[in-house]
Amino acid sequence: MAGASFPAFLAAFVAAAAAACLSPAAAGEPLPRTPPGTPLSFREGYTQLFGDSNVALHGDGTRVHITLDQRTGAGFASQGAYLHGLFSARIKLPADHTAGVVVAFYMSNGDVYERTHDELDFEFLGNVRGREWRVQTNVYGNGSTAAGREERYGLWFDPTEDFHRYGILWTRDRIVFYVDETPIREVVRTESMGAQFPSKPMSLYATIWDGSSWATSGGRYKVDYKYAPYVAEFADLALHGCAAGRRACDEEPVAAAMPPAQRSAMEAFRARYMTYGYCYDRLRYPAPLPECTVGPEAAAFLPSGDARAAAAASHRRGRRHRTRGGADSAV
Ligand SMILES: *[C@@H]1O[C@H](CO)[C@@H](O)[C@H](O)[C@H]1NC(C)=O
Repeated sequence: MAGASFPAFLAAFVAAAAAACLSPAAAGEPLPRTPPGTPLSFREGYTQLFGDSNVALHGDGTRVHITLDQRTGAGFASQGAYLHGLFSARIKLPADHTAGVVVAFYMSNGDVYERTHDELDFEFLGNVRGREWRVQTNVYGNGSTAAGREERYGLWFDPTEDFHRYGILWTRDRIVFYVDETPIREVVRTESMGAQFPSKPMSLYATIWDGSSWATSGGRYKVDYKYAPYVAEFADLALHGCAAGRRACDEEPVAAAMPPAQRSAMEAFRARYMTYGYCYDRLRYPAPLPECTVGPEAAAFLPSGDARAAAAASHRRGRRHRTRGGADSAV
């Protein structure tokens, strides 16, 4: 359960969310279906979006496999929409050759707000055999699709070998993306960001799809169905939020500021594993977007926003592989 595996301040947040959202006295109506500590089974909390038999339940509906094969990808979404909360899943990604494959775990309200939607993304980008998956996070608010706020990272483990928890904490004032216990990105709401900070209820989604046109090295490597089916496994889906439309949720929980130890862990992760950051991309944004605070760490990035170290490693690999007529790294 999230409460056990997340840092203490998150447990506190979840408790606050529970108090605000789940108090029967305040609600005066049936409890929302998310008592803390009790994960919803798939049938209770989620609904299939597409992919017919490529969404498959295991373990009494607590685990879900979504599959991409020649016929179709697959996806599911939460039945409810949530305003703020902590959303997470343990995910195991497909192994071997996965170039062009995209697994996405995200929040969105694009089905309700066509032009002014909000979105918080984890996107996992597959890779050629022997090359690690890339993780991308993104934030959209009020239809700000013209302004991408992408960041990409490597991981300190092989995400195809085991389940790892990926989490999104979303409050009125800040958004934090987590991988296991480690915060990897924090977005603090600033005045200047305005409505581009997500502010309307969103549902939780998980999808797997063919991203041949862009996912790996900008589309150089297509999905190779010789290696299909590609199966992404989800377990312990956790929704700790205010179900939208509940009066009890007017009292919104506010997450405490990140404790210093968490902040150092995040900074260490970013220094070592971040491969691209939109705040450093001077080609796309000659002036950084207003919420960016660019410090001395910017020296580690090229004007393209790519980390110098990652670019150099990719260049070395590229040379090595060109002589074999072979591969390059993703993105
Ligand atoms: C959101 O976007 C719409 C359409 O672009 C705009 O009219 C509206 O003012 C924006 N909302 C806020 C709160 O800025």
